[in-house]
Amino acid sequence: MRIIVCENYEEVSKKAAQMILSQVTLKPNSVLGLATGSTPVGMYKNLIQMNKERYIDFSEVKTFNLDEYYNLPRTNEESYYHFMYENLFNHININSENVNIPNGMAEDIEAECARYDEAIKESGGIDIQVLGIGNNAHIRFNEPTVNFEKGTHLVELDESTIQANSRFFDDIDDVPKKAITMGVGAIFKSKKIMLLACGENKAEAIYNTVYGKVIPEVPASILQFHNDTIIILDKAAAKLLKKEDYKTA
Ligand code: GLP
Repeated sequence: MRIIVCENYEEVSKKAAQMILSQVTLKPNSVLGLATGSTPVGMYKNLIQMNKERYIDFSEVKTFNLDEYYNLPRTNEESYYHFMYENLFNHININSENVNIPNGMAEDIEAECARYDEAIKESGGIDIQVLGIGNNAHIRFNEPTVNFEKGTHLVELDESTIQANSRFFDDIDDVPKKAITMGVGAIFKSKKIMLLACGENKAEAIYNTVYGKVIPEVPASILQFHNDTIIILDKAAAKLLKKEDYKTA
C-alpha cells in the first residue's frame, strides 16, 4: 500500500483526479470503478473541469459503479444512479451506454448480480477502482461480517451505515435497509485501487485498514493484500498513522 497524505480535502480531490487523468491518458478506453459518498465529489468536480478544458476525454471510457440501494427507483434523488448523473455523468462526454450501475429494482436480484459480474468480466476488468470508506471500514457496501463475499450480492446494511446515510434522507426510516454491492473479490481483480478518505471520523477505520489484521470485520483491511493500492488521505484521516508510513503530497 502506498499512502499519500495531503493538506486538505481540496488537495486530496486534485490528486485523485490526476490519477484518473493519467490512467485515461495512457489508456483512453479505460474501465473505471466508481464510488458514491461525499468523499469522491471533489474528485468528480476536478474531472468535470478537466473535461471542459479538454485535458481528459471520456468518450471511450467505461464505468462500473460499486453499489446501489435495493428497491429505490433510479428517479429517487438519493439513488446512486441519480447521484452519479448529477455529480459526474451529466457533465462529461461519456457515452451513457458505457455507464454501468447495479439495478436495485431488478425483479430477480440474483440474476442481476450475476449479470453485473459478467459485464465486468466482459469489459476486461477494472483498470482503476476508486473507493471511499465507511466509518466502520466498509468498502462499497461490504459491511463488517463473518466472511469476505466475492461476487456482487445483496447486503443488509449495518445500523451505523443506515445512521450515517440518513443525513441524505428526510427521515431515517426512508433509508433503504439493503443494497446491491460488488464483492470484495472484484477488488482483487482491479488492476489498481485508489482509496480516498477525509476527516477525523475516518481516522480509526484507516488505522485498522493499514495496521489491523486482515479480517472480514474490517472489510478494507483486505487491501493490504492487493499489490497496487494507493490510499490518499487528508491530515485528519491520517491522524493515527505513523509518519514513516506515508508520503506527504
Ligand atoms: C456509502 C457508500 C460507500 C462510501 C461510504 C462513505 O456507504 N456505499 O461506498 O464509501 O458511504 O461515504 P462518505 O464518502 O460520504 O463518507
